[in-house]
Order: sequence, then C-alpha cells, then structure tokens
Amino acid sequence: MNTATASADIGGHKDDFLATTRSDPWWKGWAATAIGLTVFFGYLTVRVFQGYYMWADPYLSPLVAPPLFTTLDSVNYPNAAPLKHAWLGTFPAWWPRFVPQSPGFMFPVLAIMFRMTCYYYRKAYYRAFFATPPGCAVRGAPLKYRGETALLLVQNLHRYALYGALFLLVFLWYDVGLAFFKNGRFGIGVGTLVMLINVVLISGYTFGCHSWRHLIGGRKDCFSCDSGSKTAHKVWKKSTWLNQRHMLFAWLSLVWVAFTDFYIMLCSKGVIKDLNTW
Ligand code: FES
Repeated sequence: MNTATASADIGGHKDDFLATTRSDPWWKGWAATAIGLTVFFGYLTVRVFQGYYMWADPYLSPLVAPPLFTTLDSVNYPNAAPLKHAWLGTFPAWWPRFVPQSPGFMFPVLAIMFRMTCYYYRKAYYRAFFATPPGCAVRGAPLKYRGETALLLVQNLHRYALYGALFLLVFLWYDVGLAFFKNGRFGIGVGTLVMLINVVLISGYTFGCHSWRHLIGGRKDCFSCDSGSKTAHKVWKKSTWLNQRHMLFAWLSLVWVAFTDFYIMLCSKGVIKDLNTW
C-alpha cells in the first residue's frame, strides 16, 4: 500500500489546506462572512471604545444602553449618554483611567457574550477566522480537532448568556418607548423608527435562539397534557419559525444595530437633521 497517497487523499479529498473537490464558488460565503464579521464587529468595537456621540435627544444609542454610569466630560465625550439615563450617575473615581468612560463596557457586554456563544456565530467565526473548516468538504487549517473542549467549554454558558440578553432586551424596548417623547411631548421621528426596527430585529434574533426554544418548550415531554403545555407548544412553534431563520436575524440585527448607532451618531454630530413631528 502506498501510505503517502493514502495520507494525502483522505475520504476522496486532498489533504492540503483549502483543498476540495467542490467545483462551486464555496469561498464566496467564507469571504463574505469574514468581511461582514470584521466590518460590523469592528465598527461596534470602535464605537464602544469611543463612548461619545451616543445621544441625540431623545435617541440613545443601543451600544451604551442601559448606561450604568455616564460622564459629564463634554470635551472628551461630547453627547455621551445623558445623566438622566445613567442608573448610578457619573463614573466613580475608581474607574480605571486607561479604560474609556463608555457605558458600553458595562451591560452591553452581555450582548457580546450572547453573540459570541451563539450557535450560529460559533459556526460563522470558527469557519471565517480559524478555517476549521472554511466550508463543507473543504480541508481546514491543520489544527487538531478536539471539539468544544478545554477553553471552548465556555461556549456552554450560552444558555446563561440568554438571560443577560433578555435583560438587555427589556431596556432596549424601554428606550424605544422613550424615543417617542421629546420634552414631554409625544411624537415620532425617523430615529424612533430606526430604533424600533432595531429592537424588533434583536427580538427576532433572541427569540429564535436555540436555548430560548428549549427553555420555553423544547424540554417538555408532552405538548398536549394540560393547558400550560399547550400554550408552551404555541410559543415553541413561533420560536421554531424564528429559529429556522436564525442566521438571517443574526445578520439583520447585527447590521441594523450598527446602522442605528450610526444614524444617532450623525444626528448627534449635526451632520444630518432628524425628520420628526416634534
Ligand atoms: S443560538 Fe444563536 S442566540 Fe442562541
């Protein structure tokens, strides 16, 4: 037996990095995912570090919501989250000087944990950034496959990250409610609609989560035993509909949260004028 040939041709595929017998342009999805994740998570990271131009009355960027602390330093942080939104007032003296005074480093981190441990995003960034593998039937990076063991066991915390995401969602809806009022007067602006779409998409993403679907019905043995289980079945079916479109909502909500922040930043800077009824 020729051992060299056997090791270079496992299961009908060449044993070289990125080798495949596929003839379709499989790499387009790989490249698009890598570029998309880099651009949108890159933008969000930069904005969280900035912490300024997060407020254009009555719109608060979702990247700092809900703010635990805020800053009154309008020179370094113009239009930061307003004091009336900050739960505990201004940043305390013990806040490390090398960390920007951005509320995005507090509660919004829960959203990062939720996305980073999401079943869909795991597949996306394992493929896009670690090429393990980059696509179905494509030879991946020469890494020893050990599954989600050792450090990657942390991914099992996703079910708990869900609770953090649900907590955040309540406040994102609350902020949309506030975005209908300016100086105590009811009205509506383009920013209100942008924020509303944002929270609808994030809700669609959150309630299509595999852990949520398990929590509200998937763990049940019987869907017709009593009125409670029948209700659970109805909710579970709605969650299933969202779950089947989880990747779509993952991307739409990611793009739109970046757009929402971008729109509020432009209004905050005075680059564009928000059309509204106030
Ligand atoms: S599986 Fe994607 S958010 Fe839970």
